[in-house]
Amino acid sequence: MTQDELKELVAKEALEFIPKSGVLGVGSGSTVVKFIEAIAKYKIKVDAAVSSSIKTTHMLEDIGIRVLDTNDVGEYEFYIDGADEIDENFHMIKGGGACLTREKICASMASKFICIADESKLVTQLGKFALPVEVIPMARKIVSIRLKELGANPVLRANCITDNGCEILDLQDFMIEDPIAMENIINNIPGVVTVGLFAKRKADVLLYATKDGVNRKVL
Ligand code: 5RP
Repeated sequence: MTQDELKELVAKEALEFIPKSGVLGVGSGSTVVKFIEAIAKYKIKVDAAVSSSIKTTHMLEDIGIRVLDTNDVGEYEFYIDGADEIDENFHMIKGGGACLTREKICASMASKFICIADESKLVTQLGKFALPVEVIPMARKIVSIRLKELGANPVLRANCITDNGCEILDLQDFMIEDPIAMENIINNIPGVVTVGLFAKRKADVLLYATKDGVNRKVL
């Protein structure tokens, strides 16, 4: 089974988390693209959504789903999104698609974060996938200096401006021993908009696809 097929499998499984009424939170990335395609394919009714990226918004609107301004919503039940890495405590690295800040906002509004992934995303320690840090452009240099002081090797992501008009520094091979502590430390550097560590607001449910089917873990 290809990784693409695994993503389709898990995306279909996530359809059961779509509420009969009310708002659904929708993340970003290729697994979420499969999820949106599955909504269309199986003609699932979605009352309304909040979206974590401009691309997701366009995709949802293209299949007739109303996308609400997050400021008009407040809180809602389920947020469905992928991850670049997820550990056994459901801490995640996210932001491979540069949508980390809006993803963190949408995740913070939800009662439950449903992470959809294929088994290649499961890790024992976060950090092999480059950790994204969204920065205000004028702070790129000083934030890089502060990140180097933490032992990181920040690399400016080429040709990437986020939906918020910011830049991304990727921290390569930055193995993370204490995800909550590191999330706090990096988020506190002036000029950082968001770090792509999702440890304080982690996933609640993990659906992950293997060649034998979709497994479900609940914390
Ligand atoms: C985008 C994200 C995605 O959820 C993450 O990169 C996983 O993407 P994919 O489903 O394509 O593997 O955080 O910012």
